[in-house]
Amino acid sequence: MKQAEFNFSYETYNNTEELPTTDSKLVEKAIDAAKNAYAPYSEFNVGAAVLLENDKIVMGNNQENAAYPSGLCAERVALFYANANYPDQRVKAIAIVALKDGEMVPSVVTPCGNCRQAMLETESRFEKPIRIIMGSQKGFWVVDKAQYLLPLSFTGDSL
Ligand code: THU
Repeated sequence: MKQAEFNFSYETYNNTEELPTTDSKLVEKAIDAAKNAYAPYSEFNVGAAVLLENDKIVMGNNQENAAYPSGLCAERVALFYANANYPDQRVKAIAIVALKDGEMVPSVVTPCGNCRQAMLETESRFEKPIRIIMGSQKGFWVVDKAQYLLPLSFTGDSL
C-alpha cells in the first residue's frame, strides 16, 4: 500500500482593500449581482461575477423555485451565461458573495459540489485555470484553480 496526498494552498485577505484591484472589482460586481437574486425561499442572496479573457464581466445570481431542485446557484447562472454567449472567451476568474438582509454573510461562501464540477468543466474546456474569489463580511479566500476545490474529480478524460 502507498499513501497518496492532495494538497493545495489558498490566499486569505481580511477585506476588499487588501484584495488585488481586479479581484475587488469583481467582488463589487458580485455584490451588485447578489442584490438581484431571486431567493424568496432561502433568503440567501448569492451573486457571482465572471471575468472573461476580453475583460468583460458577466454576472449571475441564484434563481430559486417553489420546486426546490429546479432552481440554480449564482455561479452556474453566471458561468453558463458566459459560456453560452461568449463561447470563445476563456474564463479568467469568478467572484462569489452572499447577502442576507442586505449584508454580506459572516462565513465565506464556498461553491457547492455541482458548481465546482461546472467550474472544472469550463477550466478543462479552455485548458486554463480559473481564479476563484470567495467572499464574506470577515474576509476572502482565493484559490488559483477550480481543480483544487474538487480533487480526484470526474472529467472528460475519464470517459
Ligand atoms: N447557493 C448559491 O447560489 N451558490 C452557492 O455557492 C451556495 C448556495 C444558493 C442555492 C440556494 O438558492 C441558496 O443559495 C441556499 O442554498
